[in-house]
Amino acid sequence: MNFIFNSILPPAKTAVAHQTDTLFWFVHLSGLFITAVLIGIVAYFVFKYKRKSEDEVTPVIKNSVKLEVTWTLIPLALVFIVFAWGYKIYMIEETPPDDAYEIKVTGQQWLWRFDYKNGATSTKELHVPAGRPVNLIMNSKDVIHSFYVPDFRIKKDVVPGRRTQLWFNAPDTGSSVIFCAEYCGASHSDMLGTVVVQSEEDFQNWLANNKGGAAKPEGMEPAEWGKQLTQDNACQTCHSTDGTKMTGPSWKGVYGSKVSLSDGSTVTADEDYIKESILKPNEKVVQGFDPVMTSYEGQLNDEQIDAIIEYLKTLK
Ligand code: CUA
Repeated sequence: MNFIFNSILPPAKTAVAHQTDTLFWFVHLSGLFITAVLIGIVAYFVFKYKRKSEDEVTPVIKNSVKLEVTWTLIPLALVFIVFAWGYKIYMIEETPPDDAYEIKVTGQQWLWRFDYKNGATSTKELHVPAGRPVNLIMNSKDVIHSFYVPDFRIKKDVVPGRRTQLWFNAPDTGSSVIFCAEYCGASHSDMLGTVVVQSEEDFQNWLANNKGGAAKPEGMEPAEWGKQLTQDNACQTCHSTDGTKMTGPSWKGVYGSKVSLSDGSTVTADEDYIKESILKPNEKVVQGFDPVMTSYEGQLNDEQIDAIIEYLKTLK
């Protein structure tokens, strides 16, 4: 039986997920049971009351109060049980424990960004300690997104101009997929991420190593750092490096090339143009593309943008 249960739902990796699943199975199995009983009774009556001769007349049937009360009260009781049960789990999900570890989550087209207490940041990968409640304080930079981790059975809209929160406590180390569950534009389906649940020690190490993650790692070439920054910011969701046309123009050979803009003019893709494209992406839109890129103002500093330009120069 457990085998069937486990193959239908994703693994349940939090205590709340197990409670949600129990309610899920109660709703579905009781529904299935009632359906089977009703179909059974109907099938039985079809044969039992089949018309046997030409002159057989159906007797007049009066209403039965007993029967009507029964088939009203049983479903009503079920509805109340499901409501109370669901409300209980809902309240658990809506009430983060006071000692929860807070992480700021920002949704933007099309990546997830995470800010931690000590100044560490990450994109796409959310690092959390195992066995400790984590409270996500969520906001959006542009449109409505929805933060969804199926393994934890938690989902909440991420709305511009409004703070929403979501908490969980994952006891075991491992990783789970984060989806965006609200259609948010061309690359909505690529707005994926991973929750990495780590032991307390690994998590503290990770935090320490990523503290103020803005500086170039020692000994790394600027172009190599630039490449890493583009990966951290999920630029490849929209920009290919091999000439393929995606949501945004490909980066292959873009540096130094002549670019046709949507207003009919032409510019040379030099340092200034690329920097402007990162900070004010919709000032100059390349012909054949929609003005959908979000600004990276305040997210990438000059040093980082220079490194990205160095990286673009290598994509010939
Ligand atoms: Cu963000 Cu869909």
